[in-house]
Amino acid sequence: MSIDGELAGSLLGRSDSPLAVPATKPLVFRLKQGTIPCFRPPALFPAKQGRPASRSLKFPRPPTATISKEMVNLMVGNPVKFKVRAVITVRRKIKEDIRGAIANRLDALSDKIGRNVALELISTEINRRTKAPMKSGEAVVKDWFEKNKNRGAQLVYTAEFAVDSGFGEPGAVAVSNRHQREFFLESIVLEGFPSGAVHFVCNSWVQSTKDRKDSRVFFAAKSYLPWETPEGLKKLREKELAEIRGDGSGVRKLSDRIYDYATYNDLGNPDLGRELSRPILGGEKKPYPRRCRTGRPPTDTNLQCESRIEKPHPVYVPRDEAFEELKQDAFSAGRLKAVLHNLIPSLIASISAENFDFEGFHDIDNLYKEGLLLKLGLQGHLLHKLPLVKKIQESSHGLLRYDTPAILSKDKFAWLRDDDLGRQAVAGVNPVNIERVKVFPPVSKLDPALYGPPESAITVAHIAGHLNGMTVNQAMEEGKLFMLDHHDTYLPFVDRINALDGRKTYATRSIFFLGPLGTLRTVAIELVLPPPAGGGERQSRVLTPPWDATTSWLWQLGKSHVCANDCGVHQLVNHWLRTHACIEPFILAAHRRLSAMHPVFKLLHPHMRYTLEINALARQSLVSAGGVIEACFTPGPLCMEMSAEYYRRHWRLDQESLPADLIRRGMAVEDSSQPHGLRLLLDDYPYADDGLLIWSAIDRWVGFYTSRFYRDPASVLGDAELQSWYSESINSGHADLRHATWWPSLSTPSDLASILTTLIWISSAQHAALNFGQYPLGGYVPSRPPLMRRLLPESQEEHAAFLADPHQYFLSAMPSVLQTTKFMAVADTLSSHSPDEEYLGGSKQVVEWAEEAEVLEGYREFAAEIERIEEEIEKRNGDTLRRNRCGAGVMPYELLAPSSGPGVTGRGVPNSISI
Ligand SMILES: [Fe+2]
Repeated sequence: MSIDGELAGSLLGRSDSPLAVPATKPLVFRLKQGTIPCFRPPALFPAKQGRPASRSLKFPRPPTATISKEMVNLMVGNPVKFKVRAVITVRRKIKEDIRGAIANRLDALSDKIGRNVALELISTEINRRTKAPMKSGEAVVKDWFEKNKNRGAQLVYTAEFAVDSGFGEPGAVAVSNRHQREFFLESIVLEGFPSGAVHFVCNSWVQSTKDRKDSRVFFAAKSYLPWETPEGLKKLREKELAEIRGDGSGVRKLSDRIYDYATYNDLGNPDLGRELSRPILGGEKKPYPRRCRTGRPPTDTNLQCESRIEKPHPVYVPRDEAFEELKQDAFSAGRLKAVLHNLIPSLIASISAENFDFEGFHDIDNLYKEGLLLKLGLQGHLLHKLPLVKKIQESSHGLLRYDTPAILSKDKFAWLRDDDLGRQAVAGVNPVNIERVKVFPPVSKLDPALYGPPESAITVAHIAGHLNGMTVNQAMEEGKLFMLDHHDTYLPFVDRINALDGRKTYATRSIFFLGPLGTLRTVAIELVLPPPAGGGERQSRVLTPPWDATTSWLWQLGKSHVCANDCGVHQLVNHWLRTHACIEPFILAAHRRLSAMHPVFKLLHPHMRYTLEINALARQSLVSAGGVIEACFTPGPLCMEMSAEYYRRHWRLDQESLPADLIRRGMAVEDSSQPHGLRLLLDDYPYADDGLLIWSAIDRWVGFYTSRFYRDPASVLGDAELQSWYSESINSGHADLRHATWWPSLSTPSDLASILTTLIWISSAQHAALNFGQYPLGGYVPSRPPLMRRLLPESQEEHAAFLADPHQYFLSAMPSVLQTTKFMAVADTLSSHSPDEEYLGGSKQVVEWAEEAEVLEGYREFAAEIERIEEEIEKRNGDTLRRNRCGAGVMPYELLAPSSGPGVTGRGVPNSISI
C-alpha cells in the first residue's frame, strides 16, 4: 500500500483486518458507539493568548496528520504494524563541480543496487526482553536521484516505515549515507505517530559511510536533562558525545566533527625564519584560552609549534561549524576571505612603497571620492564579494572606492574638538575602558623595580584650571573625574615597539572632566616612555588643553597617540581576546559535554553559530605572524603577546558581566532601588545605558528558561553533563587560569543563570558593541589611527620640521597609505552583517523549543522586550539632553540597537560572534 500524497499513518496488517483502510480516503476509524477520526492536526504551539506574538516571530506550520492515541489503546494486546512516514528536507548543493556531478551519477546507479540513504527510527523505549532500544528497521529514502534534478534550494524526500504498534515514541533517527558524498540534512519530520508529528532539527552534514562507518544519529527536538533521558536513548546520548570528543589524537579531516582543545601554537611559521616565529600562547609561560584542535604536524624548526595551513586552504573546524555553502559568497566572512586573499595583495602591488605617506588630508578624502586604482586585475567573480571595488570598463584594472565612514558624513571636523575623545570613550567603538578616577594622581600597578616610581606625572597644577572652579579633590569626590588609562597595558612593550621599523608609541593616560552638560572634556594627556636602559624614572610628557597653534598641533598629536593606544586595546584585548578568544573554550566544551538534547545546549546553540569558523579564519590571516592585525596596529609582531599579557593579569569571567564590569571601572555602584540593581555615575553613557536594557532582557529570559529545568541546587549539582561542561571550560579551555579563585561556582539555578547570561551577553551585545562600529566610527584614520609612526617632536631637527609643516608632520606620524587602505578594507568587512544574520530575539531560535510550549512563550516575551528596547534606543537618540548621542553633527548611538539590515550599518546585535 502506498502512502503517496499528504496522508501518512495508515495501518498495515492483514487486508481483512477491521483496522485496514484505504490510504487514499480520509482515515476514519469506525467504532460501534461512534466515529473517531484517526488523523487530527496536533497543535505544535500553544494557542495565542493575551498579547499578540512579536511580529518578527514566524512559527513553523503545524504538521499534517497523526494516528490517534485512542486507536493505539484499542490495540493493546493485539499488536499491528503502522505505516509512518519520514519527510526529509535536504539542502541542495548550489555549486556542483565536475566531481560532484560524477558522484551524483554514481549515486544514481548505487541507489539501484541498494547503496542508498537509509533511515532507522529508534524508540524512546527499550525492548523489555532484550533491554535494547526498539528500532524500526531501515527504510530507504525514495527517489533521491530523480529529485536531485529539481532546482529548488531544498529537496524534500520521504521514507516509509512499518512500525509496530508497541514501538512507543520515536526519540532518534539514525541516518546512513551510502552515497559517495556528504549531504546537508536540514530536518526530519515523522508523521503518523500517536503523539503527533515528531520533529528533528538537524542542520548538519551527513558524511558518506566511506568516510564514517557508523550511521549518524539525530535526536528529536524535545529537551531532556540527563536523568530524564528515556531508556531507549541513554546509551545513544553517551555514544554521541564520546564521538564528538574524539580521542585527542590524529590530524583532523575537514569532514570530521570532533571538538577538542589546543594552544595557540600556530600563529607563527618558524620554518620561514625568525621574523615569522611567534611565542606559543597558552601554557604556564604565556597563559591564553585554548583554540579548536586541528592536529596538524609540527613545524620542522620547532616541534612544539603546529605547522600552518595557508590561504586559500581552509583551517579545520568541525564540519557543521563551517559556513553554509549556500550563503558562503554573501557571508561577511566570504567577503573577508576575498579581502584578505585578493584585495590586499592587489593593494600591495598597486601602492608603490610600503612607507608611502599621504601628501595631504585631501588624499585621504579621495579614497572616498575618486578611489584608488588597483593595478592588479581582480577576477570578475570576486567583484561581487568586494562591493568597494568597481571594475574599470575596457581594462583589467579595478577602482577601489571606500564608503565614507558614518562619523565623517555627520561632521567632518568632529574629531578635532576636545569633547570628541570623551564622547568616543562612552559612545564610540571602544566604550569599555573609561573609568572613574579614584586616586589622584593615578598610580601604575607595574613593578617599580622595572618601571620606576608608579605615580603619574599629571599634577593638580596641570588640571586645576579646567575643572569649572572645582578643586581636584572636589571633582573626584563628586564623581566628575574620569580617565582612559592604557599605561600599564602598553608600558612593558613600549621599548620593543619603538625598536621596530616605522612604529612609535607611548603608554598613555588621559584625564577627563565631566562638564555641566554631561559630556567629558579632555583636560590632560600623559605620554610615558619607560625608564632608560640603565634605570631611573619613566619619561613622561604631560599635555594640557592648548592655547596657541603650536600647542594645538602637539595636543592633536597627543590625542592621536591616545587613540592609537585605544585602538590596540580595543582590537587585541576587548574585541579579540575578551569576546572571540575567551568564548571559544565554552563552545568547545558545550559540544563535547552537553548532548544536543540538553536544554542548556539548546539555549546556547544560537549563540555559538560560526564563532569557531571566524576564529579559525582570524588565526590564519588576521592575528597570525605577518597578518593584517600586525600590519595595521602599532604593536606589530607584539600584538598577540599584549593580548596574552592582559589575559594573564586581568581576565576573569566573574568580571565580564556588564554590571560587574561597570562597577569594577567605577562607572556604577550597586543600588537595589534602581531597575538594573545598579546606578550609573554618568548620566549619559550610551553604551551602558543601552547595554543595561539588553543585559536585563537576557538576564530575565535566561532566568526564566533555567528555572523551567532546574528547581533547586540539587538539580544543578546533580546534572553531570552540565557540571562537566563548566568544569571542562575551566580546566581544559581556560586551563592556565584554572587555579584562580574567582571562577564563579555552579551550584544553584541562579549561579547557572548568571554564568549563561554572561556568556550570551558577551556573544551577542558585547561583541556587537565592539565590532560593528569599526568602520562607521573608526574608518577615518586621522581621527582614530590604529598605528603611529612618529613620536611628538623631540630633537631640534624634528621640532624645526614640525614648525615648518605641521600637516606633513602629522600625516607622517599617521599610518602609511598601504597601512591605511589595508586597515580600511578589513575594518569595513569586519563591520558588515551577512544577509542571513540571526539577531537577538529573532525568529529562527524558536525551532530550538518547538516542543516546549512554556519555554516558547517565555521566548516570545524576550523577543517582544528586545523590540521595545529598539524603540527606546531610537527615542534616546532623539533626546537633545543626551549630548553624547544627540546634537549638532553628533552620531546617534546605535551599536546596541538590536536589528539591522545587511552590510555596514553601524547597528544590529547578532546572536553570536560570526565576524
Ligand atoms: Fe568580531
